[in-house]
Amino acid sequence: MGAREVGLPMAVPAGGLPDAVTIWEVGARDGLQNERAIVPVEVKLEFLGRLADAGLTTLEATSFVHPKWVPQLADAEDLLAGLSTVDGVHYPVLVPNERGLDRALAAGVRHIAIFGSATETFAKKNLNRTLDEQYAMFEPVVARARAEGLAVRAYVSMCFGDPWEGAVEPGQVAAVGRRLMALGCSQLSLGDTIGVATPGQVEAVIGAVAAAGIGVDAVAVHFHDTYGQALANTLAALRLGVTTVDSSAGGLGGCPYAESATGNLATEDLVWMLDGLGIETGVDLDRLAETSAWMSERLGRPSPSRVVRALRG
Ligand code: HMG
Ligand code: MG
Repeated sequence: MGAREVGLPMAVPAGGLPDAVTIWEVGARDGLQNERAIVPVEVKLEFLGRLADAGLTTLEATSFVHPKWVPQLADAEDLLAGLSTVDGVHYPVLVPNERGLDRALAAGVRHIAIFGSATETFAKKNLNRTLDEQYAMFEPVVARARAEGLAVRAYVSMCFGDPWEGAVEPGQVAAVGRRLMALGCSQLSLGDTIGVATPGQVEAVIGAVAAAGIGVDAVAVHFHDTYGQALANTLAALRLGVTTVDSSAGGLGGCPYAESATGNLATEDLVWMLDGLGIETGVDLDRLAETSAWMSERLGRPSPSRVVRALRG
């Protein structure tokens, strides 16, 4: 019998894991920001609608960054204007600076994410700032967003290795994370921007972050799957008590300012594992895989997700 007939994994719980996981779906932002083609806003809106129908409750929608830096998301205002929000679904957006915050507030956004770097080189390449300057840029963003009652997540990129600087010390990640959280953020997403992490390193970084006073309930993990380690790394994080996992439908993704970054952990691959472990996500795997198959057709290339290929190939 082929995987196509199997359809769903057998649920067999394992010890030491959470009962439920929140999936922070980044396909519409991290996924589409790295596509060569500019995806029309109508397609993005249909994508977001289908993701909500599949049961995802956090849909990172777009970024209010400089349109010349990320032309794929230059339609952020049009996207927000056309969005039919679904009750109970959050639509966070990336905001790097006060100009971005002004735009996001004008568009009615209620949830933002700032995105810092663990390394000097990537801060320069992604934000045109030094490490110290990144905090100065984010500080008024978080203060104003909080005053407006917005929820604020902080990303840290290059937590497990940097293509220009090589190894990144867990203590450095923790120090950057602590400074970003001290600005007033409520969640810290640890990014493996280029997908090089392995599970022991995940334990080391989450351990260093915890030692810096950031509780595991405030930590999310964000793995790219360049070397096929994202799911193993996710399991390592779940065993440490992490309950928020970032992923992108169909494994779309990358980062335009880190060439060695490929797609995020595919949401379908994540849901297959979580369903198999009996961990609640609220996601309908079939509907999700159908959405990714539909998106692949729009993009003119097959999904890199093994689960999408097994279910829909
Ligand atoms: P800059 O060139 O230093 O900007 O870029 P500036 O502050 O010097 O301003 C220059 C001009 O840009 C000004 O216009 C500003 O108004 C305008 P002028 O006065 O000259 O006419 N400007 C803007 N316009 C629209 N929206 C804005 C904005 N900001 C300034 N928000 C900046 C600095 C941060 C803006 C730029 O570097 C940028 O946009 N970077 C974003 C890069 C990006 O989006 N990268 C991908 C997301 S991060 C990621 O993918 C990693 C993650 O997934 C986690 C992981 O995997 O690790 C999150
Ligand atoms: Mg990313």
